Amino acid sequence: MRVSTLGFALWALAVLARPQTPGQTLTGTVGNDTIAGSSSGPDKNGKYEISGIGIRADFIAYGASISNLFLNDSAGVERDVVGGFDNASYYSVDRQHPHFGGVPGRYANRIKNSSFVIDGTTYNILPNDNPLPPDHPEGVDTLHGGPNGWDWRNWTVVAHTSNSITFSITDQDGDQGFPGEVVSYVTYTLGNMTWDIRMVALATTKVTPIMLSSHTYWNLDGFANNNTATALNHSLWLPYSGERVGVDSILIPTGDILSNQPGSVNDFWSTPKQIGANFSNPDLLGNCGENCTGYDNCYVNNLRHEGTYDWREQEVPVARLRSAWSGIQLDVFTDQDAFQVYSCGGQNGSMALKNTQGLSDVSDRPRTIQQYGCVVLEVQDYIDGINQPQWGRGKKQIFEPGGDPYVLQASYRFSLNDTMMGLLGPGSG
Ligand SMILES: *[C@@H]1O[C@H](CO)[C@@H](O)[C@H](O)[C@H]1NC(C)=O
Ligand SMILES: *[C@@H]1O[C@H](CO)[C@@H](O)[C@H](O)[C@H]1NC(C)=O
Ligand SMILES: *[C@@H]1O[C@H](CO)[C@@H](O)[C@H](O)[C@H]1NC(C)=O
Ligand SMILES: *[C@@H]1O[C@H](CO)[C@@H](O)[C@H](O)[C@H]1NC(C)=O
Ligand SMILES: *[C@@H]1O[C@H](CO)[C@@H](O)[C@H](O)[C@H]1NC(C)=O
Ligand SMILES: *[C@@H]1O[C@H](CO)[C@@H](O)[C@H](O)[C@H]1NC(C)=O
Ligand SMILES: *[C@@H]1O[C@H](CO)[C@@H](O)[C@H](O)[C@H]1NC(C)=O
Ligand SMILES: *[C@@H]1O[C@H](CO)[C@@H](O)[C@H](O)[C@H]1NC(C)=O
Ligand SMILES: *[C@@H]1O[C@H](CO)[C@@H](O)[C@H](O)[C@H]1NC(C)=O
Ligand SMILES: *[C@@H]1O[C@H](CO)[C@@H](O)[C@H](O)[C@H]1NC(C)=O
Ligand SMILES: *[C@@H]1O[C@H](CO)[C@@H](O)[C@H](O)[C@H]1NC(C)=O
Ligand SMILES: *[C@@H]1O[C@H](CO)[C@@H](O)[C@H](O)[C@H]1NC(C)=O
Repeated sequence: MRVSTLGFALWALAVLARPQTPGQTLTGTVGNDTIAGSSSGPDKNGKYEISGIGIRADFIAYGASISNLFLNDSAGVERDVVGGFDNASYYSVDRQHPHFGGVPGRYANRIKNSSFVIDGTTYNILPNDNPLPPDHPEGVDTLHGGPNGWDWRNWTVVAHTSNSITFSITDQDGDQGFPGEVVSYVTYTLGNMTWDIRMVALATTKVTPIMLSSHTYWNLDGFANNNTATALNHSLWLPYSGERVGVDSILIPTGDILSNQPGSVNDFWSTPKQIGANFSNPDLLGNCGENCTGYDNCYVNNLRHEGTYDWREQEVPVARLRSAWSGIQLDVFTDQDAFQVYSCGGQNGSMALKNTQGLSDVSDRPRTIQQYGCVVLEVQDYIDGINQPQWGRGKKQIFEPGGDPYVLQASYRFSLNDTMMGLLGPGSG
């Protein structure tokens, strides 16, 4: 056994050594080793519940996805603040397949021309984005790991305690065209109003790209804001994001790193701004791809300018999302160097809300997610860094047997912040 594999197995065993709730026995594998944990099992909807102080969540095996996240708002009303479906079985049925709360892999976001070069060898992987018939009926690039990416598969639950759950997946050599086997573990833990995420992945047989993320759809009002069905009044602050990755009309990086000038539509760093603040500005048309108004952009977390830093101990989050209506504030801390923001311009009202969301009173508003009804925040590395070697992302995106593992860590910290900042809140509508 190679050293890093051993280290990984020890890490996984340390996770499993935590107190277990009694219940069914679970097994998973790391390379040739079998490891075992236990779980009280999923509920009748296929969901695994965990809880912390002031926070409760459900996860499903499909995509290792979060399906529900409950918090009390500033009026003491419980809100389910993430997009998802009522039951696990529906995730593989829904045609729109929005990568709802899962872990895109083995390479999140887009890969230009569905190809990359490692050590002089060109690898062609399966395309699944921007179809262009007749030559490219499936697409001209690859999104979120391909047509059968990690968030389309059922992961194995290898540990499940009252406050944490660990999923694993083994991705075979050649799957979607990627070289070599990759073994990954994802652990979610709830604490005191916190959701912590830890992802580890190992290239076990060949050199291969790995980049993961958590693709969660947020609406901090639980889709229950009686003034608006959108999240455009949520405020967003990205204090370290003076730059973003430049993209073409189909959101493929051009290689340019652009500056977000103060006051421009992509300036979320100089001061918090409502996501919809600049929606009437013509500069926002095309900002998220051809004819698209809004955001689907990879912002850079320029924390390196702080010198040596410990991401957990930062006083300022890399991102703050807040709704004045519910008072719920999300602060994101992470070891990742980039941050994708998608303002849900592609939602068209065809996906159902969960029965834990929406307006509880009699209302003529459809019980579906409207365009701009949510915002996706993705901690990750520079998108398509494997095709932009001049960015120097190799150590963060290319992994080899016996080398360092891929690691992603994030801490999502929630609080209540009733600052009105000129916004309408509960009762004022
Ligand atoms: C796993 O088992 C196979 C078959 O016995 C063996 O060829 C391989 O070397 C083993 N791998 C590790 C990492 O021990
Ligand atoms: C919200 O508050 C109620 C009443 O105090 C409590 O029972 C519930 O557990 C709280 N919800 C969460 C997610 O903590
Ligand atoms: C599962 O959820 C979907 C989406 O809300 C719903 O259409 C379907 O009826 C549910 N199925 C079951 C068995 O509850
Ligand atoms: C994943 O598991 C669900 C049950 O939770 C099942 O309905 C579905 O068919 C499975 N999907 C795949 C791709 O295996
Ligand atoms: C909404 O989008 C989905 C997936 O792209 C599509 O299948 C559906 O037809 C669209 N519905 C409407 C009303 O445009
Ligand atoms: C795209 O990939 C194909 C297949 O490998 C290759 O023939 C072509 O040259 C690539 N195009 C560009 C612009 O890199
Ligand atoms: C939870 O965090 C809050 C705010 O940081 C703190 O006041 C409270 O004492 C913590 N609760 C526990 C049980 O640690
Ligand atoms: C959204 O915020 C703006 C202030 O920026 C306010 O004028 C507007 O009424 C708010 N809309 C809703 C629906 O709360
Ligand atoms: C974007 O919105 C902010 C906040 O309202 C405003 O200060 C800024 O001037 C706007 N920028 C553009 C380009 O419209
Ligand atoms: C963008 O809009 C123009 C004008 O309506 C249209 O001709 C073009 O096909 C659209 N492009 C895409 C990708 O939808
Ligand atoms: C609450 O939100 C306001 C407006 O964005 C911000 O200035 C303030 O720092 C936030 N308070 C806390 C405690 O995070
Ligand atoms: C909107 O919701 C808030 C919070 O639940 C409530 O206090 C208020 O009365 C509602 N307003 C309307 C017009 O329904």
